[in-house]
Amino acid sequence: MENKTIIPHSRPSLDDKEICALQNVITSGQLAQGPQVQAFEEELGLYHGLSPGVATSSGTAALHLALLSLGVGPGDEVLLPSYVCSAPLHAVYHSGANPVLVDVDPTTGNMDPDDLKKRLTPRSKVIIVVHIFGLPANLHEILGLGLPVIEDCAQALGAKLGNEKVGTLGNVAIYSFYGTKIITTGEGGMLLSHDAAILEKIRDLRDYDKRDSFAVRFNYKMTDIQAAVGRSQLEKLEKFLNHREKLARAYGENFAPLPCILPSSYPGRIYYRYVISVEQNVSNLIQKLARENVQAARPVYRPLHRHLNLEGYPGAEVAWNSHFSLPIYPSLAPEEVQRICQALRRLFDNDSQ
Ligand SMILES: Cc1ncc(COP(=O)(O)O)c(C=O)c1O
Repeated sequence: MENKTIIPHSRPSLDDKEICALQNVITSGQLAQGPQVQAFEEELGLYHGLSPGVATSSGTAALHLALLSLGVGPGDEVLLPSYVCSAPLHAVYHSGANPVLVDVDPTTGNMDPDDLKKRLTPRSKVIIVVHIFGLPANLHEILGLGLPVIEDCAQALGAKLGNEKVGTLGNVAIYSFYGTKIITTGEGGMLLSHDAAILEKIRDLRDYDKRDSFAVRFNYKMTDIQAAVGRSQLEKLEKFLNHREKLARAYGENFAPLPCILPSSYPGRIYYRYVISVEQNVSNLIQKLARENVQAARPVYRPLHRHLNLEGYPGAEVAWNSHFSLPIYPSLAPEEVQRICQALRRLFDNDSQ
């Protein structure tokens, strides 16, 4: 009999621990930024071997503050990959700078350092490097160019480049705890840095209250409600990452015979998304799987050069036209994994007939 329950593309993994954390924070009477936020900042910093981070209301707010902390403003150019959600582009425009889109490697989806070099100008101020889908970008080559780097780790919490965690190599790193992310607070973000002066500037800009001098600042604070959930999620991070890897292995075994390219098993990567490359029309495949009650998706809704009507991004075009993302998260039940595998195999079988 057909199974009617829809398997969503993303779903948070929450249990009694988060409910208990929420109960405690609500009975404490301290809902706005307070001790929970401070502890979450310390714990995420500690996880990276860094000093406490600065929690924010979202990853986009964190990106905006990261740009401002590096002195980005009108007249500057900020380089960023074309193949990513529009959050980094919004942050660049909010800073007043001009975005310069960079093409990506169509297989990995990460920024292509050769294309990046071609787009540098005397006005280039900062590079936003995204570790897309949990796969570390070619950061060492990019850092070698000598420009300040913001590591966008929204999709890569816990990933490693060699022995180093992503987020510890650039000038400043940002994280997102949106509902689809590796750990979630519903909405939320964090900044980390080795540089105490950068952290101080970000902390100063994050909120405006009780200041002796006036400057234009923001209300980009996280609440203690969110941080309490985030702390509980962070405790489970290694378990979550291992679970995602186990799911990726199961998919790999199931899909090996299919005519598609499976994600790279690059050491140190994490599986935020399970993205396969297909030759078929991606929209058709998504619709066909939806008929089986499995939600698949394009992992990037629309590349940024398409938003800006720009030409000259062949890598991002290939990635966008071939990438197809399947549900992968710890709260997937074994029977759901089985249904996804069967549905995808059926879809390729029918296609080959
Ligand atoms: C790579 C990347 N950067 C930044 C963001 C922005 O984070 P938020 O949604 O928390 O604003 C996201 C997505 O949510 C993302 O995937």
